Amino acid sequence: MASPPEGPVLELRGVRKSFGPVAALRSGALSVDGGTIHALVGENGAGKSTLVKILSGLYRRDTGTFRLHGLDVDFTTTAEARAAGVAVIYQEPTLFPDLSVMENIFMGRHPLRRGRRVDRRAMREHAAALFARLGVTLDPLRPAEGLSIADQQIIEIAKAMSLDATVLVMDEPTAALSGHEVRRLFQVARGLRDEGRALVFISHRLDEVFELCDAVTVLRDGEYVATAAIADTSVSEVVTHMVGRTVDDLYPKVPAPIGDVRLEVRGLQRAGVFHDVSFDVRAGEIVALAGLVGAGRSEIARAVFGVDPYDAGSVRLDGRPVPPRSPRAAVRAGMALVPEDRRQQGLVTDSTVARNVTAAIRSRIARLGMLTSWREADAAAPWASRLEVKTNALDMHGSTMSGGNQQKVVIAKWLATTPTLLIIDEPTRGIDVGTKAEVHRLLSELAGQGMAILMISSELPEVLGMADRVLVVAEGRVTAELPRADATPEAVMHAATATLEHQP
Ligand SMILES: Nc1ncnc2c1ncn2[C@@H]1O[C@H](COP(=O)(O)OP(=O)(O)OP(=O)(O)O)[C@@H](O)[C@H]1O
Ligand SMILES: [Mg+2]
Repeated sequence: MASPPEGPVLELRGVRKSFGPVAALRSGALSVDGGTIHALVGENGAGKSTLVKILSGLYRRDTGTFRLHGLDVDFTTTAEARAAGVAVIYQEPTLFPDLSVMENIFMGRHPLRRGRRVDRRAMREHAAALFARLGVTLDPLRPAEGLSIADQQIIEIAKAMSLDATVLVMDEPTAALSGHEVRRLFQVARGLRDEGRALVFISHRLDEVFELCDAVTVLRDGEYVATAAIADTSVSEVVTHMVGRTVDDLYPKVPAPIGDVRLEVRGLQRAGVFHDVSFDVRAGEIVALAGLVGAGRSEIARAVFGVDPYDAGSVRLDGRPVPPRSPRAAVRAGMALVPEDRRQQGLVTDSTVARNVTAAIRSRIARLGMLTSWREADAAAPWASRLEVKTNALDMHGSTMSGGNQQKVVIAKWLATTPTLLIIDEPTRGIDVGTKAEVHRLLSELAGQGMAILMISSELPEVLGMADRVLVVAEGRVTAELPRADATPEAVMHAATATLEHQP
């Protein structure tokens, strides 16, 4: 690409966007230079995704300036934004599963041969060249169906490159990626930066922001707060800008008295998924299932809760057997499972916050079979406020909430059942730092009240900060059981990558 002209590639100032009475963005600003990766951070509901949707032409701003390469723009469609060189990669890309990888890349603009036949060979070569430039191996001919989210994102990036996008925006791209997929994405992003493009990177993981980005802009409550070069700022300064206060303790674990065994899992087995899994969780105890993404941790949790079947083994809660394959029986026995993918499993987006939060306790709070909306709101309010669900009202609909606030609603829904065993999969994924500390404090408190907690987490600091005991899972087997005192990063990582060569 030609050397970038003077001034920022992308510049937004005083941008406002309202939905009826709700101001999603009051005064958003962002200025990104070519050849840099710029982080956009802020709490759940701060307005990050709204700003991205204005960039992508999905939303039109109410007021404010928006310049690309120094020229005023006003996109009314996503096609206009794309044509102007702006590409957005969402957390969950939407490829056409039946089409091949290359057809997805060149969707709607296939190279044609004479006679207007699609030149499949040219398309394949072009796609292969893009992947080579990105340094990834992907077969252009395979169908998109069944590709990992990480690969789907790479395809979206290849598409952006084929359109010669000069601005590339990634909205929480790493939330659902494993460690090595994150590494690969970062390599690709750095390559694009070095070609002179302007990249915007949104993440709640500040360690990633500090590793990857050159500058950071903070939004709070829809307003621009600050921009700084990464080299001139610190995590705690950024957090303070985000939250408007200092957050000193991210893992406020309070030691709780450990009581009797509540959950007893024995010899749990599912062919090809997990093998001979046995462990206990006691009252007051937080047990973490640690390990790499894909090790089988979520599958174990889902089997314990009865969502997925198992071939052998048993599950007991408070001494009583819990029947397999019945989440309903598991709930009756006193279990709750907060699933990993909360946006897809567990939130009814066309329903209100109050209704979502009370979804699992409706029969309990109803009087004579009746449930008034004020009773619903009454029951939901304490949980919603505890989890800092930032909504204007409890009658707001799930679909209009920010990603992180949706996550909080699903957590609130299961906490409202006050289970004796709480299984929580990736408790703080997609959740901002301030609330993260609050979720941790809440888990600690619930344990203190005698709840048994089984937590799955891919974030090592969270595991080490919160767990009384760490079970490391690798390839469907428990490879280590470490009491809190022995759970060092090295010990956990060692067990997580333990191969099973020595096994018969
Ligand atoms: N279509 C809409 N209708 C009403 N309110 C909306 C709509 N879209 C967003 N909002 C509100 O605007 C605010 C900003 O939301 P946005 O999705 O931009 O937040 P975010 O910074 O991306 O948060 P997160 O980190 O949780 O993804 C939120 O309060 C949200 O509820
Ligand atoms: Mg968002």
